[in-house]
Amino acid sequence: MSEKHDQSDAQTTGHVWDDDLADLTNQPPRWWMLGLTASALFCVVYFIYYPSFPIVTLNTFTKGIGGWTAIKEMEDAQDEVEAVRGKFEAKLKGMTPAAILADSELTEYVIRSGKVLFGDNCAACHGQNGIGTHDKDGLFAPILNDDDWLFGGKIDDIHASIENGRRGIMTANKEILSAAEIDVLADAAAKGQPTSTPLFAEKGCTACHGEDGKGFQAMGSANLTDKIWRFDGSVAGIKRTITHGVNAGDPQGRVADMPSFKQAGKLSDTEMKKLAVYVYKFGGGQPDAPAAATDAKPAN
Ligand code: HEC
Ligand code: HEC
Repeated sequence: MSEKHDQSDAQTTGHVWDDDLADLTNQPPRWWMLGLTASALFCVVYFIYYPSFPIVTLNTFTKGIGGWTAIKEMEDAQDEVEAVRGKFEAKLKGMTPAAILADSELTEYVIRSGKVLFGDNCAACHGQNGIGTHDKDGLFAPILNDDDWLFGGKIDDIHASIENGRRGIMTANKEILSAAEIDVLADAAAKGQPTSTPLFAEKGCTACHGEDGKGFQAMGSANLTDKIWRFDGSVAGIKRTITHGVNAGDPQGRVADMPSFKQAGKLSDTEMKKLAVYVYKFGGGQPDAPAAATDAKPAN
């Protein structure tokens, strides 16, 4: 310290600089000495308790009396996580997707693991977060995070889509309808008014798309009145769908094939339930409304 004060009775080390600055021999402050002693003591205790000192010649080290190792600490932490997970996983086994959905704590847990499962198994076709993927024919795999469903957005519909796969089938019409008839039907459908032409009923479109043209979820037959297009929605694109069909074996026809994950055996029952809840919770899932059981909602 180079404070300037009366040094008449202070001891100095005898060093003086600039005629004025003397090196005093005062004791360091008490708090400082206490701190020094405490940290020295801490070192000794730490040294004895934890593994600390390498014994190079024996290729080992002092193990410490506390038995601590980094691996053991990690294993303990893992055991804790497993204990929590195990509790949830055991519960999930016996539950239906609807029951899981009704339990907010389980739902939260399921959504966390569902994200990884979806990324690994579904995102390649349905896009990250279910935004859908497109090829030159339009939507390759449907958007899952909206509220338009081909096969239904109730929790059990979604679960069934995952377990059994989906493959909507529409017959090809190239040998059944004339080019002029296909033109009329395509124009009407493009306007969102498929039933505006009597051909729609006469040519049997109603068998799969319904009297009102809104489709049936049991068949995944698209709603033709909402102008939301599963495939190319231009007049030319619609003509192609009508002419060559969907999944009907026509080389120019549309292909839409969702694999059955149960058949593939790639996912466990619990994993398929988790995914159903995860997809439902994208926001487009539809609650089980008691009165609206046969309501055919728009398809995408
Ligand atoms: C190989 C591509 C592919 C993979 C992988 C795939 N899907 Fe699909 N998915 C499709 C196609 C194509 C359809 C539409 C089928 C149709 O239109 O007939 C579909 C339909 C669906 C539907 C019905 C949508 C609706 O509107 O009703 C759901 C739900 C669904 N998939 C969920 C999943 C989940 C969850 C996974 C992962 C476990 C998955 N899919 C993996 C291609 C795929
Ligand atoms: C055997 C049942 C069946 C018949 C009959 C049928 N359709 Fe379809 N149609 C479907 C199904 C199922 C889909 C949806 C396929 C999918 O997305 O997997 C579809 C899809 C379509 C689409 C595409 C919708 C979109 O979103 O891109 C059009 C357009 C269409 N049908 C028009 C017609 C017309 C017009 C007729 C009458 C000539 C007809 N369909 C007869 C089952 C049928």
